[in-house]
Amino acid sequence: MKDVRNVLVIGAGTMGHGIAELCALAGYSVTLVDVSEEALKKAMERIAWSLSKLEKKKGVKKDEVLSRITTSTDLPSSASNADLVIEAVVEKTEVKKEVFRTLDENCRDDVILATNTSTIPIAEIASATSKPERVLGLHFFNPPTLIRLVEIVVAEKTSEETVELAKKFVKSLGMDYITARDVPGFVVNRINLRVFGQAIKLLESGYSVEEIDACAKYRIGIPMGLFEVIDFSGVDVLYNVIREMSARGFDVELSPILEEMVREGRLGMKTGRGFYTYEGLYGRARI
Ligand code: NAI
Repeated sequence: MKDVRNVLVIGAGTMGHGIAELCALAGYSVTLVDVSEEALKKAMERIAWSLSKLEKKKGVKKDEVLSRITTSTDLPSSASNADLVIEAVVEKTEVKKEVFRTLDENCRDDVILATNTSTIPIAEIASATSKPERVLGLHFFNPPTLIRLVEIVVAEKTSEETVELAKKFVKSLGMDYITARDVPGFVVNRINLRVFGQAIKLLESGYSVEEIDACAKYRIGIPMGLFEVIDFSGVDVLYNVIREMSARGFDVELSPILEEMVREGRLGMKTGRGFYTYEGLYGRARI
């Protein structure tokens, strides 16, 4: 089994920047790629912000960790050096397949290709490559530096060697994992969609965001309200997840409320407005 040294993370958004930070904290050399220079700049600011907190709380050497991360907008040349790739671009099958086609053309033959997709079957994404045995899902949760679970999604053609290497890698990040079957939404999002779907139905029926979140937090006992979680993850992320899941026969409907929010760019914390309003990079919800 070869050693993983260089990790390539593609997509520098909500998940990609956190995954890059996590890998750098574990000692890996990380290249973070995005199509947008602006997204890369923001990602590095967020990583630096998070590492400053970890430096104060846990004595993490911020500058040393930061020095292990480089950024690029050039995927083909970044791909050639990668031992393991984690793709975290937007949840759209065609965009992901295009990224995997580029990886197939430019990565070494013994690379491990992982996708952080929330819902899309791994086999579909792997079909864009000539090496489906090297492809699997590594589904991290938001924020990956705090939520220590990864769904390792094993597709029909994923090889044993790839799975074993992925397990070793996930453990090296200090994470736990479950091994999930390659069905739309895997395990966590099949549960999530039922819960969030019900919360949105209650909203449509006339309850307020605050009332529903109060019930979730104070009666059901979860640490964040359901609408706070949606804002934190991205309203567009839930929107895309529902579209991808319903296109694959999962019984879930897209609410007009979500359609309107996406149309208006009310995407949650990342745009300052979602179900709640936020100020600053990590502003608090006004509840
Ligand atoms: P995001 O919208 O915050 O970031 C996506 C990034 O990908 C953007 O910076 C965009 O510029 C970049 N991008 C788009 N096309 C690209 C391409 N062809 N090459 C390189 N970069 C490209 O999205 P987020 O929330 O980080 O989600 C990414 C993936 O992670 C999705 O598959 C999503 O389903 C999954 N995910 C999201 C979670 C969340 O809570 N937001 C949790 C777990 C998984």
